[in-house]
Amino acid sequence: MFTEKRRRLILELLYKNESVYVNDLAPLFNVSKETIRNDLNFLTQKGVIKRCHGGAMIENKTLNAEAINKFDATIIDFFKKIKTYKENTPEKKRKKMSGKVCILGSFNVDIIANVGRFPKGGESILSTDSIIGPGGKGANQALAASKSLADVHFVAKVGKDQFSQFAYDHLSSSCIKSMTLYQHEEAKTGSALIYVSQQDGENMIAIYPGANQCITDEEVFAITPELANADIFLTQLENNFSATLNAITIAHKLGVNVILNPAPYSPDALQCLHMVDFITPNETEASLLSGIEVNNLESAKRAAECIKEQGAGCVIITMGSKGALIFDGKKHEYIQAFKAMSVDTTGAGDAFNGAFAAAIAKGESVVQAARFASAFASLAVEKIGASNMPDHDSALSRLSQYNGK
Ligand code: RIB
Repeated sequence: MFTEKRRRLILELLYKNESVYVNDLAPLFNVSKETIRNDLNFLTQKGVIKRCHGGAMIENKTLNAEAINKFDATIIDFFKKIKTYKENTPEKKRKKMSGKVCILGSFNVDIIANVGRFPKGGESILSTDSIIGPGGKGANQALAASKSLADVHFVAKVGKDQFSQFAYDHLSSSCIKSMTLYQHEEAKTGSALIYVSQQDGENMIAIYPGANQCITDEEVFAITPELANADIFLTQLENNFSATLNAITIAHKLGVNVILNPAPYSPDALQCLHMVDFITPNETEASLLSGIEVNNLESAKRAAECIKEQGAGCVIITMGSKGALIFDGKKHEYIQAFKAMSVDTTGAGDAFNGAFAAAIAKGESVVQAARFASAFASLAVEKIGASNMPDHDSALSRLSQYNGK
């Protein structure tokens, strides 16, 4: 591990525990006690911490000191902001929800081919239609949450290529209330090649993440005010994981409920489960997270228990037309799927996640929120295009068909 990273982790531990000890840190980081003493002396010289017998304590008073600016500005900013926002946003955030959702995620340009069936390797087939449209799990979820009447702040990064203006125009003219859209000098705007089968609306997707994976630490720390202001922080796994992890850490420390949609699956997700209040894998992701193949309700229950054991808060496994399963650590709750005339399942998971986040942010129970999200997603699969989301009233009307089973 690089020195800077270790020092940063020591600061995180200090923030959490208020004091750390050389004897504990050396085996933890697998380095000598001398190395740890050097780290603590370095941080002390920068005025960030103060030494105490056998270790160090956080030196809050010095957080504004000039000396700190000479150290790592991003780390200091992080602690300053967290400290300020924590003081101003106590636990009440968990009690009084006001419908505010902050989403960090991807923007992609979706290039969609409608096909009678999926091509085999080496085969060329004709598609019946070709559409270029907005997509990316983050952007789709931000739209879904906004259409579900949440007050959304969306954070994403695009390139400076021919697609960046397209991204800006789409997002700024949408119903998403506010956004932070970063631009990378060289990386391309993310894109996704999507086949949609006309047989059943199923899809195959190849994602090129591009600028989505270039979000810097500074860019994440800069959104601390938006995180502090949110009732819910929702994210996925299409960005560089360092950014996702930093944002989850900040939100968690601020007492903001975190929803992680672990899509597309990456084992990185396991690193942050202890800070995640709700995790929303589909069957494939749940299988990979748990090592239990999910193909029916019974296996979903076992997978949910296993994911919960690994540290996640509430587990919600989405199973498409088979419904969804909630496990909160005590009991399992099955949410039935709503009947739908499916033409394009692309973005169905995004519809569910955005709608679920919106409902939770408005103070609904997990079961109510999952039912609403399920109704919302059933309408989304009836529309072509991953970002094509239904409106709130239509979802309420479909929800009223719920028969309680
Ligand atoms: O979930 C659907 C989305 O996945 C598409 O919009 C595509 O861009 C990929 O991110």
